Amino acid sequence: MEMSVKERTHPAIAKLLAKGTKPRVCIVGGGWNGLYALKWFVEEGLDDVVLFEQTNSIGGVWVYTPDKPGGCFKGTRTTASKSYLHASDFPMPESYGHFPNHVEVLNFLKDYANHFNLHPYIKLQQTVHKARKTEDGAQWKVVTVPTKEGHNDGEGNAKKEEHYFDILVCCSGQHQVPRSTHKDHPFNQFTGEMMHSHAYKKPTKAMKGKTVLVVGGGESASDVAAEVCEKAGRTILAIRSGTWFQDRTVGANQPADMVFTKHQRLLGFSDFQSWLVWIGRYTMIEMMWGKGGSGLKEWQPSCAYFHGFLNKSRDIVDKAALGKVVARRGVERIEGKRVWFTNESKPEDVDLIIFATGYLSNLPFLAPELDFTTQAYKLVFDPQDPTLCYVGTARPMIGSIPALGELQARWAVKVYTGQVALPSTDAMLTQLAADKIRHKRVFPADDHHLPQLVNHWEYSDEIASYFGAKPDLVRWFFRNPFKWWTIISAPWSAHIYRVEEPKARDEAIANINRTWLPDHYSFNFFNKAMLAFDLWLVLNVVGVFCLLYVYLFLM
Ligand SMILES: Cc1cc2nc3c(=O)[nH]c(=O)nc-3n(C[C@H](O)[C@H](O)[C@H](O)COP(=O)(O)OP(=O)(O)OC[C@H]3O[C@@H](n4cnc5c(N)ncnc54)[C@H](O)[C@@H]3O)c2cc1C
Ligand SMILES: NC(=O)c1ccc[n+]([C@@H]2O[C@H](COP(=O)([O-])OP(=O)(O)OC[C@H]3O[C@@H](n4cnc5c(N)ncnc54)[C@H](OP(=O)(O)O)[C@@H]3O)[C@@H](O)[C@H]2O)c1
Repeated sequence: MEMSVKERTHPAIAKLLAKGTKPRVCIVGGGWNGLYALKWFVEEGLDDVVLFEQTNSIGGVWVYTPDKPGGCFKGTRTTASKSYLHASDFPMPESYGHFPNHVEVLNFLKDYANHFNLHPYIKLQQTVHKARKTEDGAQWKVVTVPTKEGHNDGEGNAKKEEHYFDILVCCSGQHQVPRSTHKDHPFNQFTGEMMHSHAYKKPTKAMKGKTVLVVGGGESASDVAAEVCEKAGRTILAIRSGTWFQDRTVGANQPADMVFTKHQRLLGFSDFQSWLVWIGRYTMIEMMWGKGGSGLKEWQPSCAYFHGFLNKSRDIVDKAALGKVVARRGVERIEGKRVWFTNESKPEDVDLIIFATGYLSNLPFLAPELDFTTQAYKLVFDPQDPTLCYVGTARPMIGSIPALGELQARWAVKVYTGQVALPSTDAMLTQLAADKIRHKRVFPADDHHLPQLVNHWEYSDEIASYFGAKPDLVRWFFRNPFKWWTIISAPWSAHIYRVEEPKARDEAIANINRTWLPDHYSFNFFNKAMLAFDLWLVLNVVGVFCLLYVYLFLM
């Protein structure tokens, strides 16, 4: 007899389910992923839930704060196209361009919270100071501190409050704690001004005429350098390990990431080991965008295409072509304000260094030994105690963090409601160890600083498969070939992972149809060419079998 989910699932989850009462849920963080988690927990009936947000607004990094460090820059636009930003059941407005700016993203998030009536569950200006298991291990003790002025014990100390929960969902973001580099060698030898991109908002008057060195190869580095170079006297972008660049768009107004469809994935265009990716690199990517995506020797990546993060803020390459930005490799030595770069004999005099060196993944309110990037099963569940989970933890090389976060939240809630089983601690640890080995192999250059880097299409299919949301393409082909074609040839979007739900199916298909680019766009031609390729392949296989049959049985 087959065991039920409750019998098969992890003992900690089975214990929760056996309690017979609704578990109390705590969500930390009211950014994009916190809102997704909240919506899905409420929708699936786990509505004894509180979301604590430390600031006075929902939206996380998309709240532009001109006077405070953190969050987006004044000029930030998404690098992922809108197709990757829709909520699975709440598309971004059609009036938005392909790459929304931060105001539009924040408005979308506010509309989302209003539409799903999330505000009653949200407590703003409450910082989660500490979260630990109670001594008996039965619950999570969460200590919050009000961030609002005046909420104190009368002696000026913030009044702490204790709350008890059964489930802890961490959505406090991967881009909250800057990786500070200025005390590391050789930057500790620098006598000029230094700042982190976390505190950068826009180019300032003080930068006028100065020599500014931006350190880092991520999208913060290229966005900052591309803006600063319009004001500074000289702007240098130093990328110590190089990076792959890929433009946001291909041709007229076609977001490059929209080329990735389920169909492409079936043919292997978006896989790590695929020979098609290898061919694509040499015939399309490097023909269009130059060797390494930039053509500049100083910024050449140290890994193969698709084996590391791809920087989509490629405007910087145009700025280099215009002579507005100087490309350099790593920083070797610094004496005062004089900086020596790798492979360059002549030093440069620098006034300001902006470190765009990324963020730390530690969550200060959790026990220091916990690190979701290396210890969470599929970047979601703590294998030792899966009443702790994380949402918004995967960093796709192309794609979007919240789209993957929504799938993580949907999986988590299915586990906590006993609809799908979670493996045992041992099974999760074994898988985690195997995943780490694979990660090192597929992302050799980024493994050290981005253990949470994933292939968006592979990871989304995998997470969706754990709770039955991955489209069953074979069944769709026989059930409705037209809808099958829609699902496989539309650009990737979160809507695809709703088609297996009978109630959401029609709306999902309608939303998928809306993600298509107009007919005359070359991506549609590309889609049709791939279909022709499939037919050619099928006809060839059928032909070979017919010939074999004639040869073996009729001759
Ligand atoms: C400049 C910039 C541009 C970006 N562009 C893109 C893009 O184009 N595409 C993309 O996919 N991603 C982009 N990102 C990444 C971005 O982090 C994600 O898009 C997404 O916003 C992450 O949402 P989140 O909810 O996980 O985290 P966040 O947006 O960081 O939200 C976390 C929230 O948790 C709160 N919080 C943290 N700690 C506590 C605590 N202890 N107690 C209470 N509340 C707490 C914070 O105040 C914050 O509101 C960008 C990031 C930056 C910095
Ligand atoms: N427009 C946009 O949409 C936009 C803009 C900004 C940011 N973002 C997003 O925000 C997130 C954070 O991006 P990010 O660029 O801030 O961080 P990031 O992607 O983590 O990149 C950090 C960079 O800093 C380098 N670095 C780290 N330590 C260094 C050191 N000591 N010396 C020299 N270089 C060092 C790393 O190089 P190594 O590989 O050598 O370690 C890496 O290139 C990402 O998700 C990104 O997509 C998006």
